[in-house]
Amino acid sequence: MAFGLGVIGPGCLYPAHRHPAAELYLPIAGRAEWCYDKGPWVAHGADAAIVTRPNQPHAIRTIDEAVALLYVWLDGDPAGCRLLSKI
Ligand SMILES: [Fe+2]
Repeated sequence: MAFGLGVIGPGCLYPAHRHPAAELYLPIAGRAEWCYDKGPWVAHGADAAIVTRPNQPHAIRTIDEAVALLYVWLDGDPAGCRLLSKI
C-alpha cells in the first residue's frame, strides 16, 4: 500500500493515466471532476470515495476551485504509473 496527500489548483488537469494498483481517492476539501475510461466527467467533493480499478484509465480536472485529496494505492507497483495520450 502507498498513500499521499495532493492538492490540484483551480483550472488544472491531472492528465489521463493508469497504473497496476487499484486506487482510492478521498477528497478532503474542495471539488474536482473525475473521468474514467471514455465516460463523462463527474464532480465529487469532500464526502466522496472514488475507486479506480487496476489499470483503469482515469483523469482529474478542477474547474474554479482547488481540491485537496488523499490517494491510496491499494496494491501493485507504485512505479507502474503510465500517462496516456488521451483517455
Ligand atoms: Fe491514479
